[in-house]
Amino acid sequence: MAQERVMIFDTTLRDGEQSAGTGLTGEEKMEIARQLARLQVDVIEAGFAASSPGDFDAVQAIAREVEGPVIASLARAHQVDVDAAWNAIKDAAQPRIHVFLSSSEIHIAHQLRKNREEVLDLATSMVARARGYCDDVEFSPMDATRTDPEYLYQMLEAVIEAGARTVNIADTVGYAIPSDFGKLIAEIRHNVRNIDKATISVHCHNDLGLAVANSLAAVQAGARQVEGCINGIGERAGNASLEEIIMGLHTRRDLFNMTTGVDTTQIYSTSRMVSRITGMSIQANKSIVGDNAFRHASGIHQDGVLKERTTYEVMDPDTIGWAGNSLVLGKLSGRAGLRSRLEDLGYVLSNDDLVRVFDSFKVLADKKREVTDRDLEALMAEEMRVTLEPVTYELEHVQFSGGDHDIATATVRVVGPDGTVYSDAATGNGPVDAVCNAIDRAIHIPAKLVDFNVQSVTEGIDSLGQVSVRVQRDGSIYMGRGTDTDIVVASAKAYVSALNRLLAQEGVREIPEPLTTP
Ligand code: KIV
Ligand code: ZN
Repeated sequence: MAQERVMIFDTTLRDGEQSAGTGLTGEEKMEIARQLARLQVDVIEAGFAASSPGDFDAVQAIAREVEGPVIASLARAHQVDVDAAWNAIKDAAQPRIHVFLSSSEIHIAHQLRKNREEVLDLATSMVARARGYCDDVEFSPMDATRTDPEYLYQMLEAVIEAGARTVNIADTVGYAIPSDFGKLIAEIRHNVRNIDKATISVHCHNDLGLAVANSLAAVQAGARQVEGCINGIGERAGNASLEEIIMGLHTRRDLFNMTTGVDTTQIYSTSRMVSRITGMSIQANKSIVGDNAFRHASGIHQDGVLKERTTYEVMDPDTIGWAGNSLVLGKLSGRAGLRSRLEDLGYVLSNDDLVRVFDSFKVLADKKREVTDRDLEALMAEEMRVTLEPVTYELEHVQFSGGDHDIATATVRVVGPDGTVYSDAATGNGPVDAVCNAIDRAIHIPAKLVDFNVQSVTEGIDSLGQVSVRVQRDGSIYMGRGTDTDIVVASAKAYVSALNRLLAQEGVREIPEPLTTP
């Protein structure tokens, strides 16, 4: 029997970006969108155009540049949202407007404060408005899984009649369980008169840890589009993890008899890129892309895998483009070797960029005996951070001292936007605290450090340290990252990076009086 196709709809740049403190810049969203196109997802939801001028610009830039996938923008069922969505995506080769409106009684009564008829009218009139702009319109009844099924069927029938080509059954609060959700999809197919005129999509959140299981149950029941995010990031406990859905369908194709258009060998690099750019680390035992996903600790398992891989592995790591932790380069490696290895990892550099990256590589290779793929990825992340991030203040110098019997002290030098040098010193509860205090004293940007995370890139004692921090001001969270062989320096870079994002996103340029200008 011929295999049917399941469309993969990626919402990393919209629902994923909603995760607390992710706040990506337009350039960062573009980097991820280019990689999603290499992964060959069917649809990229590039953002929510009406939500902010920055998001509008990012969606528009992606629509203009990224080829291959359909480019979608989310829109509430408001005229201004639908119009903004269209204006942002109209230059895409394949634009899609994605309209959503709550359908559950609890949302209608408490959030929308309307009656069912009014909600139905709004849904159909906004779908019709979107159809006035383009053929490809998706409609999502929000909180569909807690909606009275009869009202849900009625709403789906009405929006399909109004022109929706895709209807997306949203488990907004992650309430469904697989058997019920599969049954709901089957009942929608049975009870919505014109359902053959639309593709059924599903959009599952992970509050009960069931988002992937629910999505796969829906595919078995007839859904032909699945929405999710790379690494399962997203609102609260996240969205369905797209790499798990793709590999579930692929690995158990005997059962599903379905294909996707995805190039699975791009999964690993996409996952690493999303983690690096969002600063959201991947737990070691995460399915498919976690560090331990293809590692065997037990002697019996190791013995089996060495004799025949399939004894304890249901997937070949090559299928997802997992390069392992192979030793690749060292201080004697040349520029050509570096270029070739970076290309294997998905980084295509201009000659000028290569010269710059090679300089950083040499500095790293001098500090570290072995430069692995992971180190190269971290190096590229730092390069991208430096070239893509908004830079108001640049960290020029960090010095610190401490010990178990000494008070930690630090001195920093930071260069401001007009070249002014700010420097100051501070003590702290440990060197990281001292460095952050010194930065605060030097550039006076009031913000609270609310999250601090250090990870080593590889196992060795000489490993690079990757630090991500979140700072808070006026209820908003801003993320920053830094990489260095010294974790205190990485922390200082991450802290300045978060402050730069804060300033860029607030559109503020706070230029304090220099306290000292050496
Ligand atoms: O979770 C949800 O309901 C959504 C909709 C906007 C599709 O993200
Ligand atoms: Zn969602």
